[in-house]
Amino acid sequence: MNKPANPSEFEPTPNNLEAFWMGFTPNRAFKAKPRMIAKAKDMHYYDMKGRAILDGSAGLWCTNAGHCREPIVSAIQKSAAELDFAPTFQYGHPKAFELATRLSTMAPGDLNYAFFCNSGSEAADTALKMALAYHRARGEGTRTRLIGRERGYHGVNFGGIAVGGMVANRKWFGAMLAGVDHLPHTYNRKEQAFTRGEPNWGAHLADELERLVALHDASTIAAVIVEPMAGSTGVLPPPKGYLKRLRELCTKHGILLIFDEVITGFGRLGTAFAAERFDVLPDLLTFAKGVTSGTVPMGGVLARQGIYDTFMTGPEHAIELFHGYTYSGHPMAAAAGVATMDLYRDEKLFERAAKLESKWADGAFSLREKFPMLEDIRSIGLVAAFDMKPIEGKPGLRSYKAMENAFHDHGLLLRITGDTIALSPPLIISEAQIDELFGEKLPAVLNSVVNL
Ligand SMILES: Cc1ncc(COP(=O)(O)O)c(C=O)c1O
Repeated sequence: MNKPANPSEFEPTPNNLEAFWMGFTPNRAFKAKPRMIAKAKDMHYYDMKGRAILDGSAGLWCTNAGHCREPIVSAIQKSAAELDFAPTFQYGHPKAFELATRLSTMAPGDLNYAFFCNSGSEAADTALKMALAYHRARGEGTRTRLIGRERGYHGVNFGGIAVGGMVANRKWFGAMLAGVDHLPHTYNRKEQAFTRGEPNWGAHLADELERLVALHDASTIAAVIVEPMAGSTGVLPPPKGYLKRLRELCTKHGILLIFDEVITGFGRLGTAFAAERFDVLPDLLTFAKGVTSGTVPMGGVLARQGIYDTFMTGPEHAIELFHGYTYSGHPMAAAAGVATMDLYRDEKLFERAAKLESKWADGAFSLREKFPMLEDIRSIGLVAAFDMKPIEGKPGLRSYKAMENAFHDHGLLLRITGDTIALSPPLIISEAQIDELFGEKLPAVLNSVVNL
């Protein structure tokens, strides 16, 4: 690699993109033909030449309020000038408490306490650690087993990959945590293909938890963690009744239920949290992404009253939970979070997503007849997924080409996983933009990869 003589003169030409080792990206392919983003506003990104690119995936499922929204930008600017950093270990600052109060009020049931971290991965590991510590604090320290689900994604830290169910994320990193097991995933194309919303088939798969209890004994199991709608493995809405059944079984066996709402939180499914939409209350709920509309890194865990109370024993000067991050509740993230909550409320963005859901689904499913290569379409809330037939012997190539063509030729940013295209726009998308997406841009992209 040739290092530039004067780094301050850096220009992002294709010749000097080498030094950044990009995550979850084929580095050589990207650097040969970069998809470079220079600016953003509302529903659009802009490339280096100022060409508009419709944001079909809210960045990485996170910019729910749209890009560079003025109230959030101002709040971040003000915070940066006023309070750059303050510890939240043994000290505090008002915005972190304000945001926690807002989240606690917004959350369903008695999910009353917010613990802050900086990402979805940290949120998953925080929730898993809370579950272990909770059981220990109440004298059931044998409950150490963590149950995830196949095709689950809970970020990339060791806890999250252990309970996660994506083989590529797991196989490279060794045995990871001991004492982990998995529920089966809930997708069955034969039974569910081309379902709008929650599929009818599959609630019985929650009963697999009984099998794991019979195998390991409930006294060894601390928690079950699932995404209410699996996002990163291709958008898998839960079968009707599945989450309720899982809740019942967890309660029956004294197992904590954790919902990973890193994607489903903040209006993605038309309610503040998916827990509300599916009317199922988890014991712990993780969030990230939409909490600041993607502007400043932040994540966290909401915990039910009883869990918090369990820790609030012992001498008052003693730390109750040995966990936290330097940047937990960072002033700039907290300020961005409060401004984001204001915007969601003032513009009624969650209600807006709910109202648009049916038009969104109509648009997505209108492509079924036009593209026989689509093996399944799924949609729920403002999310849709399109499973394309893989190219023989080259899995993932059709979707990679679709992403490239979408960006370079059709002004569309989308997300791919395997040969699935996933769409999840900012919640401010207009009806005309939904028409543009499903009537023009996505058909053009699909046409460009039909004959590969
Ligand atoms: C459900 C879920 N959990 C956790 C994560 C990890 O979040 P982060 O990338 O912020 O660590 C993601 C990211 O997409 C996610 O979808």
